[in-house]
Formats: sequence, C-alpha cells, structure tokens
Amino acid sequence: MYEKEMNREEWDINVAKELWGLNHSIRGSIITVDEEGYLVISLGEQKIRVKNLLEKHGFDVAYIRVLPLIERAIRTVYEAFTELAKVHGFKGSLQPVFPMKVNPIEVVIDAIWRYGEKYKWGFNTGSLGELELLSKYLEKGGRILIYDGVVSDSVMKILVRFKENGWRVIIDVESEHDLDILSKYPEFEIGLRIKPLFRPGGKWAHSAGLEGKFGLTVNTLVKLREEYKWIEERGRLLHIHPGSQIYKWSDMEAFINEVYNIFTQLQSHGFPSIEIVDLGGGLAYPYLDTRDGTIESPDYGLIEYFNHILKIFSRLEKHPTLVYEGGRYIVSAHRILVAKVVDIRPYSTEQAQSLRSAQVEDFLSNVRSIDDLKKLVNEYKKYIHKSKQVHQYTLEERELAEDVVSKVRDELLAKIYELVRNKPSQIESVINDPLLYKLVTSPSKRYILNFSIFADIPDSVLVNQYFQAVPAQRLNEKPDVLAVLGDLTCDSMGEINEYISHVKTPLEASDWFTKMDLRLMLIPGRRLKLGGVPLHLPIKGENYYIAILDTGAYQDPLAMKHNLIYGAPEIILDEKDGEVEVKIIEKNGKYL
Ligand SMILES: Cc1ncc(COP(=O)(O)O)c(C=O)c1O
Repeated sequence: MYEKEMNREEWDINVAKELWGLNHSIRGSIITVDEEGYLVISLGEQKIRVKNLLEKHGFDVAYIRVLPLIERAIRTVYEAFTELAKVHGFKGSLQPVFPMKVNPIEVVIDAIWRYGEKYKWGFNTGSLGELELLSKYLEKGGRILIYDGVVSDSVMKILVRFKENGWRVIIDVESEHDLDILSKYPEFEIGLRIKPLFRPGGKWAHSAGLEGKFGLTVNTLVKLREEYKWIEERGRLLHIHPGSQIYKWSDMEAFINEVYNIFTQLQSHGFPSIEIVDLGGGLAYPYLDTRDGTIESPDYGLIEYFNHILKIFSRLEKHPTLVYEGGRYIVSAHRILVAKVVDIRPYSTEQAQSLRSAQVEDFLSNVRSIDDLKKLVNEYKKYIHKSKQVHQYTLEERELAEDVVSKVRDELLAKIYELVRNKPSQIESVINDPLLYKLVTSPSKRYILNFSIFADIPDSVLVNQYFQAVPAQRLNEKPDVLAVLGDLTCDSMGEINEYISHVKTPLEASDWFTKMDLRLMLIPGRRLKLGGVPLHLPIKGENYYIAILDTGAYQDPLAMKHNLIYGAPEIILDEKDGEVEVKIIEKNGKYL
C-alpha cells in the first residue's frame, strides 16, 4: 500500500500552489511552501514547517492557530475602508464589530481585543454565554457592544454592567417581547433589526427575506411604533444582515442598495435618530481564491464591497457611522487543522493480481479513440451491474469478479491516459461524458487521518462546506493518487470526497494525471471537481500529514463529539516584537 522507496518526480512549486489552493489573497503570504516543498508558516524572517511543528510536539493531530492572520485581516478591513472613504469623500466613520458566534473561543476573542485596540473593534453578541465570556473585558470599557439575541432580564442584568463600565451598548429589537423588557431600561439605545426583502443565493439564504428568523418586518415595526412611541427617539441603529457567505457580487450589491433604501426611508419616516447603519456580515471568504462566483469562490472582495457601500452612503447629506460585522472574513484563515495519515486503504477493488493482463489487453486492443472507449465502458457498466445482481458467488467467483472490475478499470484509465497524452484535445470527449469523467476523477485510495470531521470541521457535514486540503510535505513532487480522506468516526459521512482543482499554468498532458493511479487531476485553465484529493503515497515509516485550511470560522463552536473523538491540542503562533511566539495548549483529546 505504501511506496517502498522514494520514487519522486519533480513538480513545479508554482503549479503545486495552484493545485493546492495556496495562491491566496488573504493567507497566501503566510501559509506557503518553502524551496524543499514543505508547507510553511512564514512569519517575519521565520519559515516554520507545519510537519516539524507536529513532530516536535509529538502530535498526530493539532490545530495551528496563526494569530497574525487575524491581525492582518483586521488591518486590511480597516485600511480598505479608510482608503475608499477618502476616494468617495465619506465623512462618517467605520465601527467594526466581531460577531462572537463566528468564533467565541478565548484565544480568538483575546486576539480580536488586542489587535482591535487601535480601531476600537467592538463585539456583536447573541447569547448569555457570549456575554459572560466577554465579561473578562468588562472593566476595560470603551468599546461598542451590539446585542442581537433574545432579550431577557438575565441578559439585561449583564448589559447594565457593561454600560456602567463605559461600553456603548446597543440592543437590537426584534419583537414586542423585546420592547416590553426594554421599556424598563430607558437608559439603553436600541437597534432596529429589519428583515430585508431581498433573498440572496447560498446556503444561508433563509437568514434573509420576510420569512427569515431574525428581525422585524417593516409593517410590524410601524405597528409597534404606535404603542412604543419611544423607539423613535431611542432607535440609534439600523441592523440588517443578508446571511453568511454571499458569494455573488450582484446579490451583495442588491442587498447594500436595499439597506441604503431602508435607512433613508426610516430617517424620513419618523426615525431621525438612526445614525448608525449595521450592514451585518455576508462578505464572503474565498475558500478557493479563483473569483468564479461560486460558493467556495466569491466573484468580489473587500474592495468592491466597501467601494459600493461608501459610494452610495456618501450621497447623503449627513453621513452615518457604518458598522462592519463580518466574522468569517476575519478569522477563517487563522486555524489550520493538521492530521497524520494513519492508514491507507484501497478505495474500491484492488488491482487484480491473478488475472492475466493479456485478457484485458485483448479486450482493449481495438480501442483507438475515446468514442471506442465509451462503447466499451457501457459494456463494462452492464457487466458490473450484472455482477451486483448475483448473490450466490463462490469465493473464487467473487474474487474473479472483483479482479475483472479493477483490472478493466485500471486498463481503461491507462488507455485514456495514453489517448490524451497523444492527442490532448481528446480530453474534451472524456470530460463531456459523465461516465468517463467519473471514472477518470475517481479516487483510488482512502487515506485514514487521525481526525474527526464532526469534531474538527463540522461544517463539512452540516452544510457540505468546502475546505482546502493540502499535504504538509512533498509539494515539489507530482502527486501519486487521488484519495478520499476518511476520519476516525464510525460514520460514513466522516469523509472528504470532493476536491476542486483550478490550475492555470499550461502543462503537458502527461502532467494532468496523477503519477500512480493515472487519475485526471487538472486541465490547465479549467475548474474540475475531483472525487479525491491529489496526494503522495507515503513511504513506509514516513509521517505524512495533511493540512486542512481556513477552518477558523464557526468550526470551533459547532464541534461535535461523535464517537467521543474530540479535543485536539493547539499550537498557537503569535508575533511579539518581531519574534514568533509559540504556545501549546494540550487537550485530553480522544483521538488515536
Ligand atoms: C447578525 C449577524 N452578523 C454577522 C454575522 C457573521 O457573518 P459572516 O459569517 O458573513 O461573517 C452573522 C452570521 O451569520 C450574523 O447572523
């Protein structure tokens, strides 16, 4: 199963960066590759190898938290806003807040607090638990806190303390219940959380629209105003959230336009005290940075986002304060999950040993083109279907059937490789035929990793979230196989079996395929969905690690304890006075 010895084929690091998603506008300068093909974290003068970090501490699984990536994200947001404000002559200010739901763990909140000091980064909280955690900073005061959870007397008790300690506290109103409670606390400013009519696409589309879970419809607000007249005076903030990860610019643009419209309408219809506009989150994070307008890869970025907001809000006579409430954009890049490969299994039937290859070669001898091959594949498919109907095989017959299946599959793949290598344009017929496409992008291996998808990257099962997988070593070598990544849980959903390849560099057709199992892993200039991750076959005894990137948003708080596998140790990297500081948090993780 493992390679017996090093059988390396040199591979251009720039191609590796494209294949494994390391050319990235947010993390690309920090999470990168060194000259020897190791995945490194580059901070200041230091290049820290991910593999060395895990080996040094004896971890088979760990979260590496690169806190400077949070600092960079905060700074980038602030600077982009400030620059574009100058361009548009915008005189209002930016009030950034971090939505704690995105990652409320102490180390992250602490990083936001420290790095956000300069910009007075505030917080958006939605629960008693989040408020309790934030209480650590209560006495430091001086920041803004927007509360948008359900209001209760116990919540108000804590919020009173924040206010007494010099925080600016604004409480969102979403119902009559909230207003009843807030009537008892006249000292608090309130926010009007309004449902947008517009429903963008994406996995969180149901956050918006009239049926969305959050906020008031305008007609409810108008009705409530009759009874609770004071909201006109106390209403300071308009809050509208479009849902997370809005990946199409046209959707985001339409949302921003709607917020602008609601703001101007409310101001002229009895809510003149509203001076702050909170456009919620939604700024999409590029899990792939190819800008193709897919859920993994938004077709816009921070610049387009602020440019449009500032352009339209600067039309007003009096410019409001604008709240930036994105979280995904701020913390996604900072957490890398790294796990060691602990076992390698064949994905399906193994390569036949007993079958004479001449039999299959005869079978394929008349194939001269992909069209000939297609006919043959259909025959093959019928054969497989028929073989699945037979339940009374002897062991020998079963073995033979499996041998035939794998042998034919492998010979077909070799034939496709040969045909495409000789005439690269034939790849079109392969990828346009669903059966051949599936065959040629199917995995041959199942790598078992010391991790749990449910504990470490739960969104992979909850919302089919795409996370970039990348080997921590040998990035300067051509990959050997396509492999599914299986976790330690007993659950068949505990697998990563989709990979998006998007390589632009022109390459010879022979380099479009993996080295050992001859699977298609790229076509220059094309986006391809593969059935597995392009990986190397570890050499016996080699510690082969795989890093899963961009896991810093939502994954920590959503973690599950399936099979009681959870609690990875953490390696926290920070910068202090130009030096890299490494802190380890051991956890009694129940992995292998
Ligand atoms: C009110 C509110 N603000 C901000 C966010 C964070 O948005 P994002 O995930 O786009 O960073 C969310 C999450 O959906 C939210 O509900």
